[in-house]
Amino acid sequence: MSRDIHRIIINEYEARQQAASYRQLLKREEVYKKIPRIAEIDNQIQLIGVKYNKSILLGIEPSDKAVSELLEKIECLKKEKKQLLANHSYPENYLELEFQCQQCKDTGFVETKTGTEKCSCYRQQYINHLFKQSNIKVLDVENFSAFNENFYPDEINEKKYGIRISPRENILKIRQRAQAFIDNIDNPQNKNLFFSGPTGVGKTFMINCIAAELLKKGRTVLYQTAQSLFKVINDYRLSALKDDEFEDTAYSDIFNVELLIIDDLGTESPTATRYAELLNILNTRHENNLSAPCKTIIATNLGINLLNEYYDERIVSRIIGGFDLFRFAGNDIRVLKKTAQGV
Ligand SMILES: Nc1ncnc2c1ncn2[C@@H]1O[C@H](COP(=O)(O)OP(=O)(O)O)[C@@H](O)[C@H]1O
Ligand SMILES: [Mg+2]
Ligand SMILES: [Zn+2]
Repeated sequence: MSRDIHRIIINEYEARQQAASYRQLLKREEVYKKIPRIAEIDNQIQLIGVKYNKSILLGIEPSDKAVSELLEKIECLKKEKKQLLANHSYPENYLELEFQCQQCKDTGFVETKTGTEKCSCYRQQYINHLFKQSNIKVLDVENFSAFNENFYPDEINEKKYGIRISPRENILKIRQRAQAFIDNIDNPQNKNLFFSGPTGVGKTFMINCIAAELLKKGRTVLYQTAQSLFKVINDYRLSALKDDEFEDTAYSDIFNVELLIIDDLGTESPTATRYAELLNILNTRHENNLSAPCKTIIATNLGINLLNEYYDERIVSRIIGGFDLFRFAGNDIRVLKKTAQGV
């Protein structure tokens, strides 16, 4: 995924530079038409440069006096040009190349003492692309700064909520673990996360919080519902059957992205092939995680017992072995929000 993003960004910078040159060309034509004297001036400045270079090439070193005379002449012409532009109410820099980023002149790279480095605009572009490619659409509203624990009751009621602590204490524990998950993303010992619980208790919200933090840190994240995940796999299989050199980044991302999210597991229609696919994904990611971050978060409405009925035993044991399991509990926050708005 990240390799593709870099390629896309390099292309964007090239396009930006071309666009800047083209804009400059148009503006030059416009000005030359309106103020022909400026065309003459540009021509003269260019001629002086050509003459100078030619004499250097011929091995004729111009005297200091000649050089300063040339420079003076150029200065003079530039001044006249500036004045002409001002007389016609053009901004002083109207004919200069216009870059979106002055720092790197839309190349994406800057020279520093220690060598060539990516410009800050490049890093920003990279993060923007990560956000776009993550598939998550609500990151600006669902993140830790919008997290509100007051939606979770303080009451301890095992019969009602299915947990021994209050839903509030429970969500705060989960939040803490989520933060540790983010902080230790590079640690192979840092386990994956498995979220279960009824609808509307904040599983997807918590996932979005984690995704937003990791994306801000420049990590690759891919969100898929179980349904979309199996669709990507299916599409890949169909295309790969026809063309064995078929490459599909959506497919390879599932195995390589630093954080894969599988939301709403158990809502897809069950088939043996799907179980095999899922097991393959979990196993491959488990292997990959030993050498580079390759974490997975799964969320489901099925409890771990139902999971046992729904899925292959090998899948369940892979989940139990490699994931920290969390049960989300409380009331349906969608309903709470609606009641609060008086709807
Ligand atoms: N901790 C939270 N703070 C504020 N709003 C939340 C929180 N958790 C969930 N919500 C909101 O509650 C609604 C349901 O949450 P969601 O994550 O979709 O539930 P689930 O995925 O468990 O079905 C969403 O509108 C979400 O924005
Ligand atoms: Mg959800
Ligand atoms: Zn820049």
